[in-house]
Amino acid sequence: MTESELLKCALNASKRAYSPYSHFCVGAVLLTRGGAVYTGCNIENASYPATVCAERVAISAAVAAGEREFEAIAIVGGREEDILSGAVLDECPPCGICRQVMAEFCDENFRVILGSPDDFGVYTLGQLLPHGFCKGSM
Ligand code: THU
Repeated sequence: MTESELLKCALNASKRAYSPYSHFCVGAVLLTRGGAVYTGCNIENASYPATVCAERVAISAAVAAGEREFEAIAIVGGREEDILSGAVLDECPPCGICRQVMAEFCDENFRVILGSPDDFGVYTLGQLLPHGFCKGSM
């Protein structure tokens, strides 16, 4: 799948966000080295810290399905009204906890695709989480 196709899929996933508190919708699509895709959306909770980000939902679904080798993740996020109206969206960078979880399974060349299907940026995990703490640090 191309970057643009992955972002389209992430935009669709963002429409399934459960975000009654922030009204901020995020969708993530994780591409495995074998070419499979796993999707996630943010799932909020009345106990705010119990909220799970879209990226970690996608990674958890993939790992639970037996996948451990990942190529890229596409992330789309925006205010609910902008997602639903099809407005132009800014890049939605992954939070620090999601970067840390990516680093558990992905190397520094793992690609993080941000933006919208026709205007996006591609970053490596090495750029987004330099000098991170991971397996090799212990
Ligand atoms: N959120 C994500 O899903 N991914 C991120 O990397 C950043 C934040 C969600 C969590 C919460 O439901 C909403 O966006 C506002 O923080």
